[in-house]
Parts: sequence; C-alpha cells; structure tokens
Amino acid sequence: MARKFFIGGNFKMNPATREQKRSLVKTLNEATIDSSVEVVIAPPAIYLLSLKDILRKEIQVAAQNSYFKPSGAFTGEISPAQLADAGIPYVILGHSERRTLFHETSELVAQKTRAALDAGLSVILCVGETLQEREAGQTAQVVQAQLAPVVAALAEADWSKIVIAYEPVWAIGTGKVATSAQAQEAHADIRVYLAKAVSSAVAENTRVIYGGSVTAANCKELGAQKDVDGFLVGGASLKPEFVDIINTKK
Ligand code: G3P
Repeated sequence: MARKFFIGGNFKMNPATREQKRSLVKTLNEATIDSSVEVVIAPPAIYLLSLKDILRKEIQVAAQNSYFKPSGAFTGEISPAQLADAGIPYVILGHSERRTLFHETSELVAQKTRAALDAGLSVILCVGETLQEREAGQTAQVVQAQLAPVVAALAEADWSKIVIAYEPVWAIGTGKVATSAQAQEAHADIRVYLAKAVSSAVAENTRVIYGGSVTAANCKELGAQKDVDGFLVGGASLKPEFVDIINTKK
C-alpha cells in the first residue's frame, strides 16, 4: 500500500489575533495545492470550529491536545468525544512541548491515544529525542521507549489511524533541521521497531512524518527520503511558504 504524503501545520499558540487567522486562511484557500497530499491544520482550540468552516474542504483540522476522559470535572481540558462530536477528525498527542512543559509521560500519551481512537479520532503521535540523548547515541532507544506504551495500548488495526511524527527536540523551533540522512535513519528505525513490536504490515503502512525546522528550502530533500512520508510544520506553517511545503512532491 502506498503511503499518502501528509502535511500537518501545527500552529501552536498562534496566531495571536483573528485577523492574522483570516489572512492565513486566505493564503491557504487561494493557493494551488497538490491534491494527492493529505493536509491537516492544527490551530489553537479556540479556532478549531471556525477554521473547519472557512477552510477549503481538502484541508482538515486537528486539535493540538485532548484528555482521556469523555467529560467531567477537568478544568481546561477538551475531550476526544467532544472533538469527534464537533467533526474534528485529528488530534496531535505527545508533542515535545506537552511532554516537557506540561510533564506528559509516555504512559499518559498512550492513554490519551487510546481514548482518542475510541472516540473515533485519528492521532498524530509525536516522538523524538533531545540533543543530549542524540549525542549519547540513544535516539532509537528513546523513541522506542516513547512508542512502547502506545504499542501496548493499541491493537494492530488501530495503527491505520495513527501518523507518527518524528520530531527531534533539538530541531524544533531552532532553525537546526535534521539532515535528510538523520531523518531517514530515525524513520527507518521506527519502522524496524514497529515490525518487531506490532507487525510488518503496520511498519510498512504507517506514515512517519518529520517535524523540526522544516521550511520551503529544506522540504524537498527531506521529502525525497524513502521513509519520510511528510512533515509536521510549526513556524513555517504560519507563513505563505507553507504552500510550498504542502507542494513538496510537485
Ligand atoms: O509540531 C511541529 C514542530 O514542533 C516543529 O516546529 O517551528 O520547528 O517547525 P518548527
């Protein structure tokens, strides 16, 4: 099965105003975009519904986080059931900013992933090592440790609704993009792990996308690697160059 190229735009806690949001939407709605690519935009929760309504239909929206309970006394949280009910198809889970700033463990990420799938959502599951871990030669080991609780929580069929985003922490928002060889190696290692821990079909069919300082200038080389199935783009997703990244394969 050919893996469909996937481009995610993670807006993080941006844009700061609705006017900026409108201008981003205008750029995306008026651009010529490669119809063979799956494009998913993850705005802050406050903009999810309005973006879903005003974005062209080929562009889907994703939440940046969700909790593992369906409803209840969890101030500040949003549930996968609420997202599904609102017609939001995707959620990003396990982003390094959530792991670091909000102390989310891999076990919690697995629990949230399970709950998101149970609610009918698809998940963009983020993993990645710190610079210190890379320099210690622990990249594959760290990524596997992040994936292991998810593997334990999922059945083989669940993996069709997972996109893995390999995002080395040292490359996020730093302008220090991974080389295409570094990305390819990490992605191939993830497939080796999935083959061993889940199945060879899951290893072959699961999309593994790269995130960390992706720009219009570096996307073509990264996107040409055989195990790189697209990108999760942060800063550049807020700029007109995001259109060029969507069109990486054109
Ligand atoms: O989720 C996307 C991400 O963390 C990468 O951010 O700004 O380096 O593209 P950035």
